[in-house]
Amino acid sequence: MPDEARVRELMMGIEGLALLRNAIDGDEEFLTARVAEIRKIIDSTVGVGESETLAELDAATGYAAWASTYDSKPNFILAVEEPVVESLLARIPPGSALDAACGTGRHTGRLVRHGHQVISVDQSPEMLAQAAAKVPQAQFRVGNLTQLPIPDTSVDLVLCALALSHLPDVGEAIAEFRRVLRPAGRLIVTDVHPIMVLLAGQPIFAYKPGELAFVRIRPHQVSDHLTAFATHGFSFISCHEPLYAGPLPPGGYEERIPDAARAAWAGIPSAIIYEMQAPA
Ligand SMILES: C[S@@+](CC[C@H](N)C(=O)[O-])C[C@H]1O[C@@H](n2cnc3c(N)ncnc32)[C@H](O)[C@@H]1O
Repeated sequence: MPDEARVRELMMGIEGLALLRNAIDGDEEFLTARVAEIRKIIDSTVGVGESETLAELDAATGYAAWASTYDSKPNFILAVEEPVVESLLARIPPGSALDAACGTGRHTGRLVRHGHQVISVDQSPEMLAQAAAKVPQAQFRVGNLTQLPIPDTSVDLVLCALALSHLPDVGEAIAEFRRVLRPAGRLIVTDVHPIMVLLAGQPIFAYKPGELAFVRIRPHQVSDHLTAFATHGFSFISCHEPLYAGPLPPGGYEERIPDAARAAWAGIPSAIIYEMQAPA
C-alpha cells in the first residue's frame, strides 16, 4: 500500500478511464482535450509535492476518527442509493426494524419516518453517538454484523447499508440477518457497486492535518451476494443498480479535471441494492 495519496497518478488514471471509455465513440475535441490535459499534468507540478500521507485504518479506529465529519460532505453513492431505499421502504408496512451497521443513522431516521420501531447496531460507539443524537426515537446497541446483539426471529425488516463491503466475506452477516428476521421478513442490503469499488478504489477521508485515511472496502461480486442469500433461504424480490449521477467528490482532485471525471464515471453503476425475503 502506498503511504502517500498519489494525486498525479490518480488524475492521470481518471483521464485514462475517460479516454478508454470514449476512444471509439467520443468526439475528436473531447479526446484532444483529454490528451492535452494529460500532457499538462505530466509537464506541470500538479499533484507533486502535495501528496498527503494515506493510512489504512481498521473499522474501529477509522470510524471513531471519521464519525464527527462523516455526514458533512455530499456523497455520490448516497445521491443514487437513497431514492431507491426510500421507494422500497414506501412499500413495506411498519413493524420492527433493524438498521444493521447504522453509522450516523442516515437510514435509522428514514425507518422511523416510515413508522418502524427501530433498533440500530454498529461496531462504532462514536458513529452510534452521532446517530443517537439525530434519531432519539430509536434504540442503539454496539455490536458486530457477524454476531448481532439481537434475539432470533425478532424483527420484520433488516436494512444494512454500505457496510458488507467492509467484511472479508458476506456470508456470516447474511446468516445473522436470517437468524434475527421473522418468517417472511424483509431484507434490504445496499452497497457500493463492485464495479465502482474496482474502478474508484477506497473512500478517503481527512484523518489528521496532512494525513488522509480509509477503511478498506472490498468488491464483493453480485454472485457472492446471491449465493449467500440463497444459502440462507432468502428469495429474490428486486435488485437495483443506480448509475453514477454526480456530484464529484467535493474538495477532491477530480474537481480539477471535471470533464474527464464526469466522462470517466458516466453510466457506471455506483450502488447496488438487493431486496430479499426470508423463508415463510
Ligand atoms: C459506510 S458506513 C455506512 C453507515 C450507514 N449504514 C449508512 O449507510 O449511512 C459503514 C458502517 O459500518 C460499520 N461497520 C463496519 N464493519 C462493521 C461490523 N463488522 N459490524 C458492525 N458495524 C460495522 C462502521 O462502523 C460504519 O458505521
